[in-house]
Amino acid sequence: MNFPESLIERLRQARRIVALTGAGISAESGLATFRDAQTGLWSKYRPEEIATAEAFQRDPKFVQDWYARRRQNALKSMPNAGHLALAKMEQRAPEFLLVTQNVDGLHQRAGSKQMVELHGNIHRFRCFENDCASENFDVENGRCRSCGGHLRPGVVWFGEMLPVDAIQTAVEAAESSEVFFSIGTSSLVYPAADLWRRAKNNGAVVVEINKDPTPLTPLADYSFLGKAGEILPEFARQIWIRQSGGAD
Ligand code: OAD
Repeated sequence: MNFPESLIERLRQARRIVALTGAGISAESGLATFRDAQTGLWSKYRPEEIATAEAFQRDPKFVQDWYARRRQNALKSMPNAGHLALAKMEQRAPEFLLVTQNVDGLHQRAGSKQMVELHGNIHRFRCFENDCASENFDVENGRCRSCGGHLRPGVVWFGEMLPVDAIQTAVEAAESSEVFFSIGTSSLVYPAADLWRRAKNNGAVVVEINKDPTPLTPLADYSFLGKAGEILPEFARQIWIRQSGGAD
């Protein structure tokens, strides 16, 4: 794949790069995107009906089981070439921040370190009833040992606020970025879907990599329709490897 030389040059010069990722980056690792159909026992529910505090209050076990299955799927899957390319970009760029909406932990496993998890992480837990400070948790039985309350996943549910620190860091980074990538996200869920606009309003070049067109597609400076696991490694190679003439 050949990228416009102007973009490659801009990326080589850029001191601050931000990449926002969504479920699409993990699709090639075998994890269903959020808006894909649910399967099996959960097929008659939409995520919006399960991933809420109300659903948990009604039936904690049901929601815990749904998350246990997603957690197992995440652990069984491996980071793909897209995750690995982003970890490599972090090592090469002067400043690089990865902002992810994903909760699967695959970016960390690929080696990304400078990152913000906007929607939390499925491998962490919190006490639902009392939000107990100590993590004295019996994960196997889904209970907090301090108060006996139910354990909920450490993710942001529908109707909940994003962690203030995380969104603040993401907004500041987007506003001061020179290049902003939007990768594998439908650009529908706010406030993440607004980050590219903040970047663009402050002069960044906005680059989208997504399998299908999104509301961002006609507005991005560059849009590449395709798989993140194929496009990102090629990007990383053309920006840095080709320049130094070196091996990977
Ligand atoms: P979506 O499921 O809405 O969108 C995934 C996007 O990835 C789609 O636009 C696909 O076309 C694209 N895609 C699929 N496979 C791809 C691939 N191999 N390479 C590149 N793109 C690919 O997921 P998100 O945008 O992440 O929030 O959804 C955002 C948030 O909505 C989620 O974090 C979740 C949900 O509400 C919370 O749980 C709080």
